[in-house]
Amino acid sequence: MKRVELAASGEVQEGQLHAVSAEGRSLLLTRVGGRACAVENRCPHFNLPMTRGKVENGVIRCPWHGSRFDACSGENIDWVTAVAGLPLPQWSRALVAAGRKPAPLQTVAVTEVDGKLYLES
Ligand code: FES
Repeated sequence: MKRVELAASGEVQEGQLHAVSAEGRSLLLTRVGGRACAVENRCPHFNLPMTRGKVENGVIRCPWHGSRFDACSGENIDWVTAVAGLPLPQWSRALVAAGRKPAPLQTVAVTEVDGKLYLES
């Protein structure tokens, strides 16, 4: 098993997204209740990066169309709720979803050892 350093522990904080690249993958790191969590930096709606998204109470909001995901499990909570930060009425959400069904974020296992976060691959 190969261990790849992702970040110093102090760089990953509650309520913040920390973008990193490792092993050819773009990842987002955050902390929820002290636990470090990582997901692929690619929204399952249109495969767009979520670097400019927000994370609050362990939930990541996609900056493009407002879909929300559990930051640790990747579970989809809301699917396509906004455009450019403006809420979409319920009737228009299916149009913006463009036929794509709700899907989870891909999660990535991280370990924290001696003040550093690692990807195990
Ligand atoms: S790209 Fe994320 S919700 Fe559309």
